[in-house]
Amino acid sequence: MSAGAHIGEAKSVRAPAPIGLLAELTHRCPLQCPYCSNPLALEGVASELPTQTWIDVLAQAARLGVLQLHLSGGEPTVRRDLEQIVMAAAKAGLYSNLITAAVLLTRERLQALAEAGLDHVQISIQAPDPGNADGVAHYPGGHAKKLQVADWVREIGLPLTINAPLYRQNLDSLPAIIELAERVGAQRLEVAHVQYYGWALQNRSALMPTRDQVMRSADVVAQARERLKGVLVIDFVAPDYYASRPKPCMGGWGRGIINITPSGKVLPCHAAESIPGLMFDNVRERPLREIWLASDAFQKFRGLQWMRESCRSCAYREIDWGGCRCQALAFTGAAENADPACAKSAHHNAFTRLAETESSGASPPFVYRRPAKKRTVA
Ligand code: FES
Repeated sequence: MSAGAHIGEAKSVRAPAPIGLLAELTHRCPLQCPYCSNPLALEGVASELPTQTWIDVLAQAARLGVLQLHLSGGEPTVRRDLEQIVMAAAKAGLYSNLITAAVLLTRERLQALAEAGLDHVQISIQAPDPGNADGVAHYPGGHAKKLQVADWVREIGLPLTINAPLYRQNLDSLPAIIELAERVGAQRLEVAHVQYYGWALQNRSALMPTRDQVMRSADVVAQARERLKGVLVIDFVAPDYYASRPKPCMGGWGRGIINITPSGKVLPCHAAESIPGLMFDNVRERPLREIWLASDAFQKFRGLQWMRESCRSCAYREIDWGGCRCQALAFTGAAENADPACAKSAHHNAFTRLAETESSGASPPFVYRRPAKKRTVA
């Protein structure tokens, strides 16, 4: 079945076939990024899905039309059964992408994952230099280890993406981040501004860049794209706070992406649990196909019926799908409202003013999930 095909009627809203599955294998993570988008209350190891359930779920996902599997966390390599999960993905015909902080990987493990059928590796960095990167992540030695793992990825012959979330403290280092991606032989660089959900929202005023920084970074990306045509693909996402049009978050609610939490809850987006009143089904209790087609959470904002003005009559309503429901809720108090990133939103001016105010002062210290302690790198 093609990813764009419609696979059934659910209540009155037709559901397209999903293309991607984000499998959060665990919330455990050795790093402590202050922009972590995982929820404030993390799911514990005792609630994590067992290997066989993930294997079953991946087969269900492939039958449903999913093509791409993103193995994420927390840090997915803390799962000892990762090779089995990768093998199951390959068997189901899914293209697997490991999204990793890389600090726990050994060359042998990476080789074993490649032999199990892993298709792609995405390594996240916090900054282009060890001092800032290790300081931000609260993980001494982590940056050097990431560069080492990037070399192994290339030696083993896997495609590599470098992912660098952007924020006030590293935005002016964007040219150095691009150089780093070139140097390690990445095919793709993802530089997306931090999204303010989960823990990142706690640190929003520290992380918020100025408008000038954002404008300069857009120029840096445009020049680098020209220079690196055919060498490095650069995906750049500017912060919503300085935009005038919202992004189609997740490509539209319930239109292409499924997110499964470590305990098996199936979410339409990473932050959907922040929306009160939504009911989330669990893969332990209901087949994935039924959840995708008919669950309360996926139905709630799928399509156009839920929209209020200004979205309902907007010419862009099937392009941006009203933007981000979680951002609408967090800023306006109602998930049904237009995303405040949209210039048509009654909240847009206040949204932009907030960014300008927060970025104009000195950056407060980051708030971390755990106190810092010394760690060693594998
Ligand atoms: Fe939930 Fe955008 S993060 S809709």
